[in-house]
Amino acid sequence: MSGNAEDVAKVLNDKAQKMGFTTNKVELNDVSMTDFAKMKNVAIVTSTTGEGDLPTNGEDFWDDLNASSKELQNLNYSVCALGDRSHDIFCGAGKKVDEKLIQLKANKVLDRQECDGDDSGSDEWGNSFLEKIKSLQ
Ligand SMILES: Cc1cc2nc3c(=O)[nH]c(=O)nc-3n(C[C@H](O)[C@H](O)[C@H](O)COP(=O)(O)O)c2cc1C
Repeated sequence: MSGNAEDVAKVLNDKAQKMGFTTNKVELNDVSMTDFAKMKNVAIVTSTTGEGDLPTNGEDFWDDLNASSKELQNLNYSVCALGDRSHDIFCGAGKKVDEKLIQLKANKVLDRQECDGDDSGSDEWGNSFLEKIKSLQ
């Protein structure tokens, strides 16, 4: 909502390109379930707003994902969840996306990163994600 998650995604996208990956950085709402099912390696970065909700540019994606029962065994993913412990449902958006992807049998290649108040830990998470994806090529 204020650009924190977008900044994390930009940094990761730049690093991935420098490592030679072909990337596609998109807002969650621009990803249909049909597109999503075709993706191979996905780093999901989302903040939390409201009370454990996805930001407005991710809420349509979440509604579609939440309603989906299509299994995603071919999807390698990890989630970077931004939030703030002063809220009751800490990092609720990232948690619910991660939990739904587990339910759909997607392949979690790296544990979820939870960032408290800022983007601390997101750099390390992004580096580990890229190394993991590289090792899977
Ligand atoms: C109105 C509002 C509601 C928020 N609700 C939550 C919440 O329920 N849980 C949480 O962990 N963080 C919550 N946050 C904290 C944000 O997720 C955090 O500041 C994040 O870094 C913002 O990233 P963004 O600019 O990409 O949206 C909220 C922040 C605002 C302004």
